[in-house]
Amino acid sequence: MKENKKFSIQNVTKIFSQRVLLSKEEFKAVDDVTLEISLDPPEIFGLVGESGSGKSTLANIILQIIYPEVGKIYLNSKNIADFEITEFMKHIQPIFQDPFDSFDPMKKTDLFIYETIKNFNIAKEKSSIESLINESLKNVGLDYKTVKGKYPHEFSGGQLQRIAVARALVVHPLLLVADEPVSMLDASLRISIVNLFKELKEKHNLSVLYITHDLSTAYYISDRIGVMLRGNLVEIGNAKEILDEPLHPYTQFLKESVLEPDPTKKKITLEESEEQRMTVISEYQQKGCKFVNRCPKATDICKEKEPGYYSIKDRKVKCFLYENFK
Ligand SMILES: Nc1ncnc2c1ncn2[C@@H]1O[C@H](COP(=O)(O)OP(=O)(O)OP(=O)(O)O)[C@@H](O)[C@H]1O
Ligand SMILES: [Mg+2]
Repeated sequence: MKENKKFSIQNVTKIFSQRVLLSKEEFKAVDDVTLEISLDPPEIFGLVGESGSGKSTLANIILQIIYPEVGKIYLNSKNIADFEITEFMKHIQPIFQDPFDSFDPMKKTDLFIYETIKNFNIAKEKSSIESLINESLKNVGLDYKTVKGKYPHEFSGGQLQRIAVARALVVHPLLLVADEPVSMLDASLRISIVNLFKELKEKHNLSVLYITHDLSTAYYISDRIGVMLRGNLVEIGNAKEILDEPLHPYTQFLKESVLEPDPTKKKITLEESEEQRMTVISEYQQKGCKFVNRCPKATDICKEKEPGYYSIKDRKVKCFLYENFK
């Protein structure tokens, strides 16, 4: 089946409630997100945004770890809720932030790949399983001899992340959902892992949802990016075009934050303090545009009304500035 190969997220909303002082407040951690990721031809879609913008929530919805209150998600033309879970996981595989989380520390690493092949019924015979392990490790630049019989702690984070990718590859997925897959690795290793994603896309027709704080790797490997702001996707389009010339004031702010040479002034943080968390929730609940309190270009309408999406060439921007933009 060649036609219509895409992963399609339609108007998805996830509501969480969190304690704010003495009351419990609901907010939309993912708010009416619509997004398509092409599976054929494959693409790398970068999802970027500050801490607490809803990226992992969206990833967990895609992986069916959690379920949205509103919206539908289709793999090609089949609703993902209608898949039997093993069948679904054959198509969509996760790569986690901390590679050590992907493996049981008490279990030999190759055994984990072995069991994945068995559990997914990819092969039964020991010899064919071993040749599949060999092949998948080769695909990530490792060889079976250096992996065989070793426990996770005997590898570096970068090697183990490659092995996690190799494990995901044995089921021949269409899409990898990689949530901050390089943020725990040394800077020197990050590029080699993101390069691996690029290579897998080109050689194995694999699409990747690459979730990151790091605009530079997103720029480097993504075909398209989506920028998340408090549950909303506010700018979607070609990665180079968006990051070279961001249109949404929030994307501009993200880019400036990255370029801020004084790290103490950096506005993007990985950790959420209690105070930040309260600000995050109030921004989530903000009527109108969720960036209004921080936006240098905000006008009265931004406080009152939620902007729609405006198209500028192939790009979509959720900002009133572009309402009459030609
Ligand atoms: N299970 C949950 N229950 C309640 N609130 C949650 C839950 N999971 C996440 N949140 C909240 O939802 C918001 C979005 O969180 P999410 O983890 O999706 O953000 P993120 O963009 O992945 O952030 P980071 O870049 O720090 O990983 C945050 O305010 C977070 O505190
Ligand atoms: Mg996250």
